[in-house]
Amino acid sequence: MSQDFSQYDTRGYPMLPAREGYAEWVASYEQSVKDEMDLRLLDRLPPSSWNAAEVIDLACGTGRIGVWLANHADLGAIDGVDLTPEMLAGAAAKKVYRRLTVGDVGATGLPGAAYDLAIAVLVDEHLHSLKPIYREAARLLRPSGRFVIVGFHPQFIMSTGMPTHFHRATGEAVAIETHVHLLSDHVRAALGAGLTLTAMDEGVIDDAWIAQKPKWERFRGRPVSFLFDWRK
Ligand SMILES: C[S@@+](CC[C@H](N)C(=O)[O-])C[C@H]1O[C@@H](n2cnc3c(N)ncnc32)[C@H](O)[C@@H]1O
Repeated sequence: MSQDFSQYDTRGYPMLPAREGYAEWVASYEQSVKDEMDLRLLDRLPPSSWNAAEVIDLACGTGRIGVWLANHADLGAIDGVDLTPEMLAGAAAKKVYRRLTVGDVGATGLPGAAYDLAIAVLVDEHLHSLKPIYREAARLLRPSGRFVIVGFHPQFIMSTGMPTHFHRATGEAVAIETHVHLLSDHVRAALGAGLTLTAMDEGVIDDAWIAQKPKWERFRGRPVSFLFDWRK
């Protein structure tokens, strides 16, 4: 069962809804997100994982993942969906997407059975429930299509009490609506959507992380991100 973040919160930052938070964070988002969080896990999958004619990037944000895919994969076209138009404007500027749509990852409105690969990176902690995103990813995929989901590790959120957050230009720290989904919540939602697990990975705070963020020495060894690779 998903857990209420407030029982772990050690920061007490004011909490914004995702749409509002990302409209503000967009100005500094790409300077604050560490590639160790997500791209490192994508890099560890076999290169053949990325051969796909059509890809949907769910919660594409400013297009970091679209750029990574375009540089690493033998792809046809990438479409993107995101709730926050300000983030999508960043994605459009990357010029790697065929089509960008403002929408919810749980109900994109895009045609079903249209994609070989669906990918969702660093969004699940903003979702109240995981069922809609898994159901929607399964609906969007063609038979045998893959859904790769990468997220902020629940064990990290719970043990540090740290929500997803950013610093305003004034220096004030502000959180974005954060929910804690156990790894079993992912498995339950995925199996319920008819998906099968083909691979899983976790990233921990290690030397590469600490080189980027020395004050995270105190978190050394904790899992900070996860990846599930599902097949329809
Ligand atoms: C941390 S960013 C991740 C962006 C991108 N995937 C990346 O890895 O850089 C989270 C994104 O999720 C989007 N988002 C949050 N909730 C959403 C929802 N329910 N539907 C669609 N997008 C959502 C936000 O607007 C934001 O762009």
